[in-house]
Amino acid sequence: MGRQFFVGGNFKMNGTIKSITDIVKNISEADLDPNTEVVIAPPSLYLLVTREHLRKEIEVAAQNVFDKPNGAFTGEISAEQLTDSGIGWTLTGHSERRVILGEQDDFIANKTKTALESGLGVILCVGETLEQRESNKTLEVVTTQLKAVADLTKDWSKVVVAYEPVWAIGTGKVATTEQAQEVHASVRKWLAANISQEASEKTRIIYGGSVSEKNCRELAKQSDIDGFLVGGASLKPAFVDIINARA
Ligand code: G3P
Repeated sequence: MGRQFFVGGNFKMNGTIKSITDIVKNISEADLDPNTEVVIAPPSLYLLVTREHLRKEIEVAAQNVFDKPNGAFTGEISAEQLTDSGIGWTLTGHSERRVILGEQDDFIANKTKTALESGLGVILCVGETLEQRESNKTLEVVTTQLKAVADLTKDWSKVVVAYEPVWAIGTGKVATTEQAQEVHASVRKWLAANISQEASEKTRIIYGGSVSEKNCRELAKQSDIDGFLVGGASLKPAFVDIINARA
């Protein structure tokens, strides 16, 4: 396989200059597995202070990006402004932006394409709601979300796919290793059929949804789980244990 283990920390809309600086300094000073690629996603307001205090080999991600270049888009941030600020990654398609802010697949696909064209790495979030899972629509939903991006770009070399079942986010109800592995394996198959065999082999597919220091090691043993996108636990010292889940 040879895929580098990848752990993202999504702080969501949490923290202050002081609390985020403290968290980031703790992460920087911690004994981290050198084989894990780590990316930290603070709120936009704190991207620069995070970049300033984070040790250089750890990348910073925006939690969102606009789909158009700089211009008359009040309140938005462009991919160019992120790269100009030394920010190397962005999330797109997080379920909270799909569900709360109503972002649709085509908008997310445009954002992803724009971000990739600007040289950003993209953590592309996909996942189903509890209702969709209970209706056996999980794979249909996830592949539809992936297809929207594939319709616009076939270069997935800087894409990390984050499978985040909505019903596991912030609920403490983590997916079982079988549930997560099943979807991850299906995503990998989908990549081979729709992008390329190379993309299938090289793309990291990470899991998000109530990951903790208690459940990360078991999940990390699964052949198609290449890491995590961590919300609540990324704000806590135990985030280091999740980064070191394969150490
Ligand atoms: O993007 C990661 C997030 O959606 C997962 O949140 O708090 O369940 O780890 P949490």
